Amino acid sequence: MNVFGVDIGGSGIKGAPVNLERGDLAEPRHKVLTPHPATPDDVAGCVREVVGNFGWNGPVGITFPGVVTDGVTRTAANVDKGWIDVDARALLGDRLGLPVTVLNDADAAGVAEMTFGAGAGRKGVVFLLTFGTGIGSALFIDGKLVPNTELGHLELNGHDAEKHASTKAKEDEDLSWQHWAHRVQKYLAHVEMLFSPELFIIGGGVSRKAEKFLPLIEGVRAEIVPAQLQNNAGIVGAAMAAGASS
Ligand code: BGC
Repeated sequence: MNVFGVDIGGSGIKGAPVNLERGDLAEPRHKVLTPHPATPDDVAGCVREVVGNFGWNGPVGITFPGVVTDGVTRTAANVDKGWIDVDARALLGDRLGLPVTVLNDADAAGVAEMTFGAGAGRKGVVFLLTFGTGIGSALFIDGKLVPNTELGHLELNGHDAEKHASTKAKEDEDLSWQHWAHRVQKYLAHVEMLFSPELFIIGGGVSRKAEKFLPLIEGVRAEIVPAQLQNNAGIVGAAMAAGASS
């Protein structure tokens, strides 16, 4: 079965029909640039453009880069604050005229990785962490998601961790791989101190360059592996969530 997945990110809004048996895109994805400011209304227009591009008529799963409880977006660290307490399921569903499921972006990526990627078959405590504009977290216990964990906002050296260790921080501060890997290492050690996971899966666009920084990370007991679905994990996970609730 195919279900449509959309990933709302800080720089792009992308989507495609997803083959749920294979866990990959059934057609090449379509992407539009995220509007600035990323208000609910403008983002909803972009989502409509992405879905409309395929003439899609069926359930749609949509990721959001903030806390989502029962279809309502609760936080907005890297998008317009107008998203706080919006019934995103109703807003996006009305705009598309289709049934939609909305969930946190890291949770969606995590669900996809635990089924089709680096976490497949893994039991125990597993984290997927996405490094991008922010840091997203998805916690799994024996394969079951604990949603909305928000560990990107742990305090690290007196900072919001994502301000210090996201790939945006690397770019903004022009950090070397060595310097940034050191910050990521400190962050992982902190999460490990709190949760003792068996596995960290490192996602986000930077997972494509895992060989540049993962070998530099030392002193973390847990296994650390790059995500396998890379930039499509959010789209696939969003479609899986919509498929499960339709
Ligand atoms: C948000 C999370 C999101 C992460 C990655 C953070 O700033 O609070 O909800 O998963 O960024 O987009």
